[in-house]
Amino acid sequence: MQLDTYRRPLMDLRISVTDRCNFRCTYCMPLDEYDWLGKKEILTFEEIVRLATLFVQLGVEKIRLTGGEPLVRKDLEKLVSQLSPLPGLKDLCLTTNGSLLAEKAPALSAAGLRRVSVSLDTLNPEKFRAMTQRGNLNKVLEGLFAAKRYGLRPIKINAVIERGVNDDDILDLVDFSRKNGFGIRFIEYMDVGNSNGWLSEKVVSKAEILSRITSHYGLRETGRQGGSAPSVDYQVIDGAGDIGVIASVTEPFCSSCTRARLTADGKLVTCLFSARGHDLKALIRNGASDEELRDVISAVWRVRTDRYSDERLEAMKSGRGYEAKAHKKIEMITLGG
Ligand code: GTP
Ligand code: 5AD
Ligand code: SF4
Ligand code: SF4
Repeated sequence: MQLDTYRRPLMDLRISVTDRCNFRCTYCMPLDEYDWLGKKEILTFEEIVRLATLFVQLGVEKIRLTGGEPLVRKDLEKLVSQLSPLPGLKDLCLTTNGSLLAEKAPALSAAGLRRVSVSLDTLNPEKFRAMTQRGNLNKVLEGLFAAKRYGLRPIKINAVIERGVNDDDILDLVDFSRKNGFGIRFIEYMDVGNSNGWLSEKVVSKAEILSRITSHYGLRETGRQGGSAPSVDYQVIDGAGDIGVIASVTEPFCSSCTRARLTADGKLVTCLFSARGHDLKALIRNGASDEELRDVISAVWRVRTDRYSDERLEAMKSGRGYEAKAHKKIEMITLGG
C-alpha cells in the first residue's frame, strides 16, 4: 500500500481522456476557447492502459474515466474493454455530461463499463441551456435512460448547486431521481480552474441543501462509502431515494483523500486544485521501464501533502478571507472532475 505524508493510501485513479468538451458549463469551463492540447500530446490508449496497470499494481482499486467530456474521445469503448479486465480493479466508472450517452451506452456496457455518473444541474430546459451554454436537456435525459436500459448501474446524477442559479431546483432533482431510480449527489460549488469567477457567496452549503430537502422528506444519514468517498450519503426514510452531498467547501474531506489524477497529457496530479503535475508521459516516451514508472509514482505519492480544501476552509474561517484567484490551478478540463 502506498501511503502519503498524512498516511493516506493511494486507492483511486481518475483518468482524464480528453480536455475537450461539447458543453461550456459556466461553473467549469465558461470560455469558448482554451489552450487545447495537441493530438500528439494526448496519451494513446496503449499508454493509458500501461499506466493504469501500474497504478493497479500499486494498490489502486477504482478507476474513473473523466474529461473534459470523456465520450467525445473517439472509440472510448476500446479503452474501456482494455481496462475492465485488469486484475485487482474492483470498480470502473465514467463521469459524463450524458449528451452522447444514448448512442454510446450499448458499446460501453458491452466493453465492461460498470456504471456511470451523469452531470445534471436542472430539469428546466432553458436553464439547462444557460448553465451548459451548449447543451440540450432532452439528449441528456435520453442518455440517462439508455444507461439504465443497458445496466450501467448504479446511475448517479451529479448536480452542482450555485446560489441564485439552480438552488431552487434541488427538490425537483430529488423527485426526478427518486421516481426513476437514480442516485443524486448535490455538489457545493467549488473554485476549480481559474476562470469560473468563484465567490464564497455563490456556495450553497451542505447544511442549506439538506434543509431544503428535509423540509419535504425525512433523511437518514448512512455516511461516506468506504469511509473516504467525497459524498456523505442519505436514504429517504420512506424508502426510495439515494441522496448525497459533496461538501468540499464547508466540510472538506482531504484527511481521507485517496485520489490521484492522470491528465489527458499524462501528468500525475495529486489534488484537484494542484498548480502542476508530474510528467509521466515524458518518462514513457523516453523509454522508462515499468519498474521505473512505478518507482516515480510511489515517490510522488509518498511526499504528497495536499489538503487544499481544508486550507480553504481554514482561510475562510480565519477572517483573512479567501481569494480564489490568488491560487493558480490546472484547469478542471485538463484534470478531470
Ligand atoms: P462514486 O464512486 O460514485 O461515489 O463517485 P465519486 O465519489 O468518486 O464522485 P464523482 O467522481 O462522481 O465526483 C463527483 C464530484 O465530486 C466531482 O465532480 C468533484 O466535483 C467532486 N470531487 C470528487 N473527488 C474530489 C476530490 O478529491 N476533491 C474535491 N474537492 N472534490 C472532489
Ligand atoms: N464546482 C463543483 N463541481 C464542479 N464540477 C465541475 N466544475 C465544478 C465546480 N465549479 C464537477 C461537476 C461535474 C463534474 C464533471 O465536475 O460535478 O459533474
Ligand atoms: Fe464539460 Fe462537464 Fe465541465 Fe460541463 S462540467 S463543461 S460538461 S467537463
Ligand atoms: Fe483531495 Fe485535494 Fe480534494 Fe482535498 S482538495 S479532497 S486533497 S483532491
